[in-house]
Amino acid sequence: MNSLRQNVSLTRSVHVACTLLKETPRNLKHKKHSSQQWLVRQLRDPYVEKAKQERYRCRSAFKLLEIQERFNIFKPGQVVVDCGAAPGSWTEVAVNAINASGKKDGSVGKVFAVDKLPFYPVEGAVVLSGMDFTSASTQEELRKTMQDDKADVVLSDMAPNASGVREIDHDNIIMLAYSAMKFALQMNKPDGTFVVKIWDGRKTQQLEQDMLRFYNRVRIVRPNATRDESTEMFFLARDFKGLKTR
Ligand SMILES: C[S@@+](CC[C@H](N)C(=O)[O-])C[C@H]1O[C@@H](n2cnc3c(N)ncnc32)[C@H](O)[C@@H]1O
Repeated sequence: MNSLRQNVSLTRSVHVACTLLKETPRNLKHKKHSSQQWLVRQLRDPYVEKAKQERYRCRSAFKLLEIQERFNIFKPGQVVVDCGAAPGSWTEVAVNAINASGKKDGSVGKVFAVDKLPFYPVEGAVVLSGMDFTSASTQEELRKTMQDDKADVVLSDMAPNASGVREIDHDNIIMLAYSAMKFALQMNKPDGTFVVKIWDGRKTQQLEQDMLRFYNRVRIVRPNATRDESTEMFFLARDFKGLKTR
């Protein structure tokens, strides 16, 4: 098990991008305009409050919860790979939905969560942190860790650091989406599911067409928790056909 990077002792550099604010921020005037906007938006955001109440690490949980509620992608006992998992709220949702911690009766599933940043372990999941998903060695290690299991569901909420230039950010997230899709094509079970986040742009349609070659059903989902001003959207690809498509 030493190949599993369960980084329990990391404190300073652990991923906290989805910080759940508890207090009114002070000294706003000393912060950059963009930081002020972020803090104010966090305070007004009902999903931030809800995440605190329901004890998720991050408001993103509600995006996956909505996808689950509407499309029922998870079932107890399944195998799930979560790419770009830090700080871990999607992992928490998946662990619960497929009973990976074995806390409920019935089949027990498995969740494998990967992120290039360190993040705290999630009970019931195998966490590979500090690993760049796009590198061949990470994917090799993930395959080894999965020990020949194939995935019912591959999730990618991976996102690059935003530059603020829409076209560049779009191109970068599309690169991550293709990396996740190539992995899903090798690791999905027949009839499996692939969920991937992108920021909309000129390559969105091409990605959709590429998915349709391998999955029978592909749809776009914009959960309520996606912020209005964001170009974020998720592709939900279902019924993996396998790699022989011609
Ligand atoms: C929006 S956050 C994910 C939030 C997560 N789904 C949750 O609910 O807690 C996007 C994540 O993608 C990760 N990421 C970006 N590029 C990556 C890469 N090449 N390999 C692994 N993770 C990556 C980032 O480190 C970041 O943690």
